Amino acid sequence: APSRGLGDVYKRQHLTYKVQPSPDGLAQAFILGEDFIGDDACAMVLGDNIFYGNGFSRILKAAVKNAEQEKRATVFGYYVNDPERFGIVEFDETGKVISVEEKPQKPKSNYAITGLYFYPAGVSQRANAVKPSARGELEITTLMNEMYLKEELLDVQLLGRGFAWLDTGTMDSLVEAADFVQMIEKRQSIKISAPEEIAYRNSWISREKLLESASRYGKSPYGMYLKAVADGKIRY
Ligand code: G1P
Repeated sequence: APSRGLGDVYKRQHLTYKVQPSPDGLAQAFILGEDFIGDDACAMVLGDNIFYGNGFSRILKAAVKNAEQEKRATVFGYYVNDPERFGIVEFDETGKVISVEEKPQKPKSNYAITGLYFYPAGVSQRANAVKPSARGELEITTLMNEMYLKEELLDVQLLGRGFAWLDTGTMDSLVEAADFVQMIEKRQSIKISAPEEIAYRNSWISREKLLESASRYGKSPYGMYLKAVADGKIRY
């Protein structure tokens, strides 16, 4: 390879994936991914969930630390008006989690559990022990409830009113999420979740690499945005 400056050294990340042949429940992800997860802590995010809020990276880093060092699971609670549609978490007066229920007919609170889960090492073994629910699925809630909660290893971090938790699972909600993202991006003159920007700000790629990416998008708004990031013109 041609000699490179230190700034050009970056880690190549590989994506691997596995298909879930039939919709047998979220907890099955940890069984299908068992070899991939190995002895690591891991996170799962549902593909139709979008999170946006100031300080979210800090919250995510804390969840990683909680899983890797404290060996505890973290999930996120969000106030909703239609709790029958979600996994719901119930707290006592001190804020301690006392129950987690999947789509309860009589919800014990308005706090939905979002589709983002952090688990310590060993989650696949636990998922293997989950029994199918009445609707025949390996429920993520069983994993949380009967395993991590019972062993007092479950932390629920509330996402406050400054956070947007968006669902894009229907045509309507997808359009609403797109409107939201467009509005924030325009008003704040930023792009939400631009992979090249994130890689650059975390020093995973050099400025040259960022500019190279930017030029690939030519004079498109996205290309111009990446160039502005490289030139230090985007507020961070
Ligand atoms: C799943 C989970 C539920 C969670 C929701 C969040 O439900 O089972 O606990 O609250 O995702 O999006 P689903 O939307 O797959 O029915």
